[in-house]
Formats: sequence, C-alpha cells, structure tokens
Amino acid sequence: MKYKRVLITGTVGFIGFHLSERLLKEGVVVIGVDSINEYYDVEVKNRRNAILKKYPNYHFSKLNIAEYEKLSKLIEKEKPEAIIHLAAQAGVRYSLIDPWIYAESNYLGTLNMFEVARRYNIKRVLFASSGAVYGNNTEIPFAIEHRTDHPISIYGATKKANELLAHSYHHLFGTEMGGMRFFTVYGQYGRPDLALFKFARNILRDEPIDVYNHGKMTRTFTHVNDVVDGIIALLNKKDLKYEIYNFSGSDSITLIDFIDLIGKYIGKPVEKRYLPMQAGDIPAALVDISKAAKDLGYKPKVKIEEGVKDFIEWFMKNKDWLLKLKDS
Ligand SMILES: NC(=O)c1ccc[n+]([C@@H]2O[C@H](COP(=O)([O-])OP(=O)(O)OC[C@H]3O[C@@H](n4cnc5c(N)ncnc54)[C@H](O)[C@@H]3O)[C@@H](O)[C@H]2O)c1
Repeated sequence: MKYKRVLITGTVGFIGFHLSERLLKEGVVVIGVDSINEYYDVEVKNRRNAILKKYPNYHFSKLNIAEYEKLSKLIEKEKPEAIIHLAAQAGVRYSLIDPWIYAESNYLGTLNMFEVARRYNIKRVLFASSGAVYGNNTEIPFAIEHRTDHPISIYGATKKANELLAHSYHHLFGTEMGGMRFFTVYGQYGRPDLALFKFARNILRDEPIDVYNHGKMTRTFTHVNDVVDGIIALLNKKDLKYEIYNFSGSDSITLIDFIDLIGKYIGKPVEKRYLPMQAGDIPAALVDISKAAKDLGYKPKVKIEEGVKDFIEWFMKNKDWLLKLKDS
C-alpha cells in the first residue's frame, strides 16, 4: 500500500465502511470522519462504526466537513498522507426535498476537503462522483469523454461541480485528483434508502414493490467489493494528475429481472405495483469502464446473481434489526 495514513470521509457510510475495513485489515491507519447524519437510520451507521472501532488503527472523529476550523484542527493532529473523500449528501430523490443540505455537504464540504489538502500539502485526493452526472444522455454506454454538463438532478449537479472544482485545484496547486463515478453500489450493510434493501424488506413484509417506469429501466449494479478494489487501485496508481473514472459492475439488468432475482433468493412471491418514471431518474445506465480497466486494471468480479444472493443471506441473518429500521 502506497500510503500508511489515509483520511477517509464518510467512513460510517456504506462505501466508506467497506473501504475502511479493507484498509484497516492491511494495517493502514484510517482517520475516519463522518457526521453520522440522519438521512437514513443511524442504527446501520452505528453498527458499521462498531465493527471499525475494533481495529486499533481506526481513528474516528464525528465531524461535519462543512466546519472548516474543526476539520483543519483534525488534519493538523492526524497528519494524513492522502484523502479519500466519500462523505456526501447522497440520494437523487431527496435532493428535490432538501437541496440546502446538498449545498452544505457536497459543495462546501468538498471545497473544505480540497482546501485542507492544499494547505497541509496532502498531494493525493480521491473523491466520489456519481453516474448521475450523465443526466439524460442517450449515448450508451456512458463513457468518460461524453458530455456531462447537463445533469438532471440537484444531486447530480453537485457531483459535477465537485469534478470541476477538483480540476481547478489540480491546475492551481498540483493536487493529484482522482474522481470516481459510482453506479448503484450494493452489498452487505448497504444503504436502506436504496432499491435492493427496500425491495428485500417489502418482500419480507408482504408489501408490494413500486416498479417505476414499468420495470423497463436498465441498471448496472456494482458490488461494493469491486468498488473498493477500484478505489485502492486508484490510491496506489503511480502517476496521477487529474483523472475521472467510471467504476461500475460487469453486467446490467432490467429492474423487473432484478426484483425477480431478489424474490427468488428470499423464496417468496413478489407483489409489484407498476408506476411511471420518477422525476430525475434515468431510463438506462450502461457504463463504459475501459479507462479504469486500462489505467488501473479495474475488472469487476462479482456477478449480479452472486452479489444479490450474498446480500439476501446477510439480510436474512440480520433481519431482526434490519426490519425494525426507520423507513427512509
Ligand atoms: N452508493 C451508491 O450507489 C453511490 C452511487 C454514486 C455515488 N455515490 C457516492 O459515493 C459516496 C459514498 O456513498 P454511500 O453510498 O456510502 O453513501 P452513505 O450515505 O452511506 O455515506 C455517506 C456518509 O457521509 C456522511 N456525511 C454526509 N454529509 C456529511 C458531512 N457534511 N460531514 C461529514 N460526513 C457527512 C453521512 O453521515 C454518511 O455516513 C457519496 O459521495 C455518494 O454520493 C454512491
């Protein structure tokens, strides 16, 4: 591992948790930062944090990255060698309800992360972007060189803004910037606001599943283990200036087939409620990962059947507390 002390924001979030655990197992000191916000039930975040806290090389601070002074004091104390910035107000739909929280965490929070990197001479910064930057692009698969200057959600616009700001910081201060566009990530300890979790819960509760766009949407789901492999490959990349990568899974699936797969592994019939497309959603998300493959050797390994099966097995083992979580 190229770096021995890495600051990760959003460590009790879904991707941050998995990434942190992998690095902690490798002996890296993970300086974890998270505000533990209540966008979804904090029970999941507290459980993830309890797992991470078992590692003596995990240094956690509950902190809002929008608060610059507190952040800079932490950096002075902990002296990280690299930053992996995953904290964000996530979610496409919620950005229509509370756009201000996206401004605070995604605009100001990201500016603060880039600014501490500049002031404390932290050369390498990786940051999470999103497939949402592709907006309503009809040219698929989505490739890095495609235009992404017309996002169709407030969330997507904040993620695009992060990519632009990163470019300015690279140009002005030479920060090595690695932007990572993720696409519907799933896996154990996954987000309760996302489809897989909600569908599994509904099936177990004998409640119907809302199938938007009549199930005709296509998605490339990405297993969190593949995402973690991609992030680590980018962290270790020898030369980095300013690059953006698509990190997505290998196979795509329609929403309807995805739901049937979940039903199959739970072993219960699925009641579906067909609905039109929702504002801000995109009909197809097929992704070109050739740049990540070429530069980083990125090769997603987890097949959707295998990943969903693994998630459902975890869900069934933990269903006593999972089914009690507040709906998000
Ligand atoms: N999971 C996906 O499918 C997906 C897809 C595309 C992009 N992303 C991006 O990847 C990153 C990680 O996503 P995730 O799925 O782990 O989301 P998550 O919501 O589980 O994790 C994000 C974490 O950031 C923390 N956070 C939010 N605002 C903060 C602030 N101001 N200060 C400190 N901490 C704050 C939250 O408490 C949360 O624990 C995010 O930037 C997200 O936008 C995720």
